[in-house]
Amino acid sequence: MKNARTSPPFSGLTEGYSGPRSKAWDVTDRATRMDNDGADIIHLGVGDPDFDTPAGIVDRAVTSLKSARTHYSPISGEPELRNAVAEACSYQYGTDIKAAQVCIFPGAQCALFATMLCLAGPGDEVILLEPFYATYEGVAQAGGATMVTVALSADDDFSLNIDRIADAVTDKTRVILMNSPGNPSGTVFDQKSIESLAQLCRDKNIWLVSDEVYSQLIFDVEHYSPLSIPQARDNVIVICSVSKSFAMTGWRLGWTIAPPELTSHLSNLSQCLLFGVSQFTQDAVAYALRNEHQQVATFCNIFKQRRDMFCDALENIDGLIVHRPGGGMFTMVDVSALGCDGEKFANELLDDCGVAVVPGFAFGDSVRNCVRIGYLCDEKQLMDAANRIKKFVAHRITE
Ligand SMILES: Cc1ncc(COP(=O)(O)O)c(C=O)c1O
Repeated sequence: MKNARTSPPFSGLTEGYSGPRSKAWDVTDRATRMDNDGADIIHLGVGDPDFDTPAGIVDRAVTSLKSARTHYSPISGEPELRNAVAEACSYQYGTDIKAAQVCIFPGAQCALFATMLCLAGPGDEVILLEPFYATYEGVAQAGGATMVTVALSADDDFSLNIDRIADAVTDKTRVILMNSPGNPSGTVFDQKSIESLAQLCRDKNIWLVSDEVYSQLIFDVEHYSPLSIPQARDNVIVICSVSKSFAMTGWRLGWTIAPPELTSHLSNLSQCLLFGVSQFTQDAVAYALRNEHQQVATFCNIFKQRRDMFCDALENIDGLIVHRPGGGMFTMVDVSALGCDGEKFANELLDDCGVAVVPGFAFGDSVRNCVRIGYLCDEKQLMDAANRIKKFVAHRITE
């Protein structure tokens, strides 16, 4: 018998982004297939706002396209957009951000990945705070670094536990990655604990990467960024985008704000990886940052109303523990009282009731008994989803 043909080996780095979290969207993908086959599905999985991009932003992109803004752009981004980001962020963080600190990427996801490639390689450790956004596992290991997780406690509403984080720091730690408001928890870290975390990073000479894609969708308190701490500038990187705040997920536009030396590394990496971001998208985003703040406030108000209405409904269901989020578009729900983990719950909920949610294992092992549910559709559909979940839970309890 002839030898079976095998391909040449792949890079060891592929293992970093093929971990358990790469299966995070399996239930969502199945829901999409069921929907395509005609099933009645309510999608509360992927964090894509159901709003259209505001018309003024779309018009600006069309004008740009018609003006032949269709060529390569400067690698770090169009000067007009870098200036607009610097101005908007200077205002938001109450500090002076220079355009030279801004590097434009096609989305926060890419910005995160590029940042991690520049900061942590083989032999280094990256600390993730559980529950973390599903892609962080792959991002942390992008350059060959080792991921170290610190589980934040559900009983403490997933707030920062500085002692536990400090215990996880070793002389190999290069980066701590934080996300506030958090995906999936919706937890908003308070100023005092962010200052303590920044102090820890300064003392130990560690980079603090702050993913702030939900910073404009915050309901009960003001957002606080480590970039607002004057002494923290040399080791803090902020990652942000227009995906969530301006309903522009498909446009793919985000940025880093970083010390100039790191920005220069990011630009060199971007040259090899991307060779720029489309000009007309950058024009539209510069316009959005300068002119469409009212739209962001409107989206935020709608999400707040949905959060209130949906969490009230879920909290009335016996057997569920609901973590009421302070921002973002998701709530974490603990289903362990039903005698199943989040994955079983999510699969059965989809099969029996046509509601798509994301199983907790996607966000770290410590929350595998949870599911993440997004308030991602209008109030009528959300009430329909809450009723379906209620029936499903009642049925499981009496089984
Ligand atoms: C916490 C977090 N960071 C980053 C991203 C990626 O955002 P973008 O669409 O800007 O790439 C997401 C998307 O859901 C997210 O939830």
